[in-house]
Amino acid sequence: MKSTVYNLLSALAPLHYDNLTYCHKQSLKILNRFSGQHKRFHSLMGKDPVHLEKRMVDGQYLPPWFSVAPMMDWTDNHYRTLARLISKHAWLYTEMVVAETIVHQRNNLDRFLAFSPEQHPIVLQLGGSNLENLAKAAEFANAYSFDELNLNCGCPSGKVAGHGCFGARLMFDPKFVADAMSAIAANCSVPVSVKCRIGVDDHDSYNELCDFVYAIVSNSPTRHFIVHARKALLSGLSPAENRKVPPLKYEYYFALLRDFPEVQFTINGGITGIDQVNAARRQGAHGVMVGRAAYNNPWSTLRHVDSAVYGIPTSSLSRRQILEKYQMYGDSVLGKYGPGKPSIRQLVKPLLNLFHSEPGNGLWKRKADAALRRCKARFIICNIQSLVHVQ
Ligand SMILES: Cc1cc2nc3c(=O)[nH]c(=O)nc-3n(C[C@H](O)[C@H](O)[C@H](O)COP(=O)(O)O)c2cc1C
Repeated sequence: MKSTVYNLLSALAPLHYDNLTYCHKQSLKILNRFSGQHKRFHSLMGKDPVHLEKRMVDGQYLPPWFSVAPMMDWTDNHYRTLARLISKHAWLYTEMVVAETIVHQRNNLDRFLAFSPEQHPIVLQLGGSNLENLAKAAEFANAYSFDELNLNCGCPSGKVAGHGCFGARLMFDPKFVADAMSAIAANCSVPVSVKCRIGVDDHDSYNELCDFVYAIVSNSPTRHFIVHARKALLSGLSPAENRKVPPLKYEYYFALLRDFPEVQFTINGGITGIDQVNAARRQGAHGVMVGRAAYNNPWSTLRHVDSAVYGIPTSSLSRRQILEKYQMYGDSVLGKYGPGKPSIRQLVKPLLNLFHSEPGNGLWKRKADAALRRCKARFIICNIQSLVHVQ
């Protein structure tokens, strides 16, 4: 595998980035349509915009100019470990953890909430619609020293928004979200934020989005929103379709920046490269969140974040060094939560995309897969090292 890694490294394909030009033009057109509306928010919110973006500079970490989105089954501890080896400054979100899980598993919380100190800055995303449980979950999570607690108001999955009555469905009840955010904030010592869509079903006008933000900002300490710039449809679309079928409307996001100058907004949805991240930042975005691209192509998406977004030299670890460090991590956690927990498959999963769309990627994945199949049969004696060192 070492020589495979070397060949892959020397054959890095040139990177191609799109930019946001089309979206910018659309945004400008629509921004003009909206100009003049929602002046009331300026006056209601007070006259002196607080430069919230700066708050983390004064603390330990740089601001969330770039963040990796919360993604169920993807942004687990293992992926976050890999991501942190590539970027030191990107903000990392956990997968959504449901408040009831935290409350019911209070004696087993490390499994859901523990992370290594290197993962800072890190945000815990909570899911739920029960005030008491959200408050308790925030209280229990506070002991783990996350840097921000976030509430999921954007997930359209049937289990979450249907049966669970939370996620994107919460956008129908801004008053409840405000109460939930107040309850979370009252039980933790870090800032709180909301991740939402621009609308749900036919509640998709800019005015309704403003009403949502306004209700939360004026009735809770929330001053940071992550806006996935497409609406969610609660029936008829799968979660995956809900991430691509409803059109992106970045113009709603940029209008929020104008209408709520005291609030920090992070843009999310369809952003795939650092050029797009910087284009959005140049256009005024306080922060940019990237999801699928950061998972499906972690090297190309994350390796320029420190230098190109934060203006700080990158860690300059090669992928070989990253694999070696990840291997040490793998060895240290294998079986930590009981036999097969985590499993080798879970540990190796984030590595599979490390050479995404580069020559040799197919070979890399085939070797990894073969190593994993052997692991299944001889689980105890096989550890992650065998994958990284296989010739
Ligand atoms: C596999 C997967 C799981 C996701 N899980 C969550 C989640 O737990 N909470 C959440 O707020 N969003 C979740 N999302 C949505 C992402 O956070 C993000 O909003 C969405 O993918 C759009 O960003 P992108 O175009 O950069 O991928 C998930 C997305 C994917 C692909």
